[in-house]
Amino acid sequence: MRLADRRVVLGVSGGIACYKTCILARQLTELGAAVDVVMTAAATEFVRPLTFETLTKRPVLTSLWEPSRALAHIDLAKAPDAIVVAPATAHVIARAAQGLADDMLTTALLAAEAPVLLAPGMNDQMFAHPATQRNLTTLRDRGWIVVGPDIGPLAEGPSERPGRMAEPEVILAHLERLIGSPQSALRGRRVLVTAGPTREPLDAVRMLTNASSGRMGFHVAARAFARGADVTLVTGPVSLAPPSGVELARVTTTDQMQRAVAQHLPSADVLIMAAAPADFRPTNPVEGKPPKKNQVEQLSIEPTVDVLASTIDARRKGAIMVGFALEAGSGEKRARQKLEEKRLDLIVLNRADELGSGFEVDTNRVTFITANGVRPLEFLTKEEVADRILDEVERLV
Ligand code: CTP
Repeated sequence: MRLADRRVVLGVSGGIACYKTCILARQLTELGAAVDVVMTAAATEFVRPLTFETLTKRPVLTSLWEPSRALAHIDLAKAPDAIVVAPATAHVIARAAQGLADDMLTTALLAAEAPVLLAPGMNDQMFAHPATQRNLTTLRDRGWIVVGPDIGPLAEGPSERPGRMAEPEVILAHLERLIGSPQSALRGRRVLVTAGPTREPLDAVRMLTNASSGRMGFHVAARAFARGADVTLVTGPVSLAPPSGVELARVTTTDQMQRAVAQHLPSADVLIMAAAPADFRPTNPVEGKPPKKNQVEQLSIEPTVDVLASTIDARRKGAIMVGFALEAGSGEKRARQKLEEKRLDLIVLNRADELGSGFEVDTNRVTFITANGVRPLEFLTKEEVADRILDEVERLV
C-alpha cells in the first residue's frame, strides 16, 4: 500500500471531469490513503456525494454550515499530506488566487498548510483567457503545483488546445511524487532508463527485432518519477503511453539507442538498462521494398553495439548500473558473467521460458544478482518488480 498513512483532501469543483475524479478517489483509496472529499455546490450537480462516500468510505463535506462540523475546514486544512483539487474549474482557480473563502473548499484552501496540487479542467477558451492564466501564475508563485490540463476532446466537442483535465493516473503520479516517498534516496537524482526492443532494417518494411513490449522499462521510469527522480526514458518502438513527467527519447536502432544513452549518461546517477536491443543487424540494408523473389537466400548479419559495455568508460564515478538478463533455463551463471563483463551493480535475471515471465506479459519472476549474492523474488507484477529494483537501487545509492 504505497500511500498507507497518508491523508489527502480531494477537492472537487463543478466541471464534467468530476466523473474522472471518482476514479482518482478510488485509486487513492486502493493505495491506502485516507481520502477526505470536499465538493463545491456545483460539483454536487455532476456527481452525488454518495458516490465519493462509497468510494472513499469516509464522509464527504459539501457545506460550511453543518452544525456538528463547525470547524471542519480548519481540520481539513491542517492534517493532510496534500490537498488535490481535481477538476479545478476557472472559478475555483479565480477564487483561490484572490484568497476568497466562500465555501468549504476555498476556505480549506485558504487555511491550508499542506502542499496543494491543482488539476485544471475547463473549456479551452476559458483556460486560455488571460484572467485564468494570471490566476494560475499567482498560484504557481505561491508554490502550488499545476498538473495539466491536456489537449484533447472536451465535452463540447473536439479541441486542439489545453483544457481537458489530466487523466487520474497522471494526477496520481504527480501526487505520489509529492508525498509518496519523502525519504527516497532517488529524490533529485537523475535516472536514465531504457525500454523496449530496437529494430534493425532489412529494407523499408522488413526488420530484425524481438518481442520486448517495453512494459518493464516503462514501469521503472514511472516509479522512479514517483520517487522524486528526474527521469529520462530512452525507448525503442513500443505501443505504450509515455509515463507522465518523464523526458522521453524515442529511438529505432541499437546504434541510436547507444547514442541516446551516451548523450544522457554523463549526468546520470543511475542507469537501468531494461531495453532488449537487437543483437544483430543486416549487413546491407536496402531502400524501398524489394519483391520477395529478389530477396537473397542467405541473410548476411553483423553484431550491433553492446550498449551497456560501450558505457563503461563514460560512467560517472559512483553511478549505479543495472542490467537485465533474459535467459532460457536457470541462467544464473550467464547472468553473473554479464554482471562482471558489463561491470554492473545489479543484474535482474528473468527467464524466457517460464509462463508469466519475460516478454509481452504483465508479470515477472526475477532473481537479483549482485556481487554479494543471489536473491530470487516471488512472482510479482512488473510494476512491483520495478519498485523492488528501485528499492535495491536506493540501497546501492
Ligand atoms: N544489452 C545492451 N546492448 C545490447 C544487448 C543487450 O546493452 N546490444 C543489455 C540489455 O539491455 C541487458 C543486458 O545487456 O540489460 C543483458 O542483455 P541480454 O540480451 O540478456 O544479453 P546479451 O548481452 O545480449 O547476451 P546474450 O544475448 O548472448 O545472452
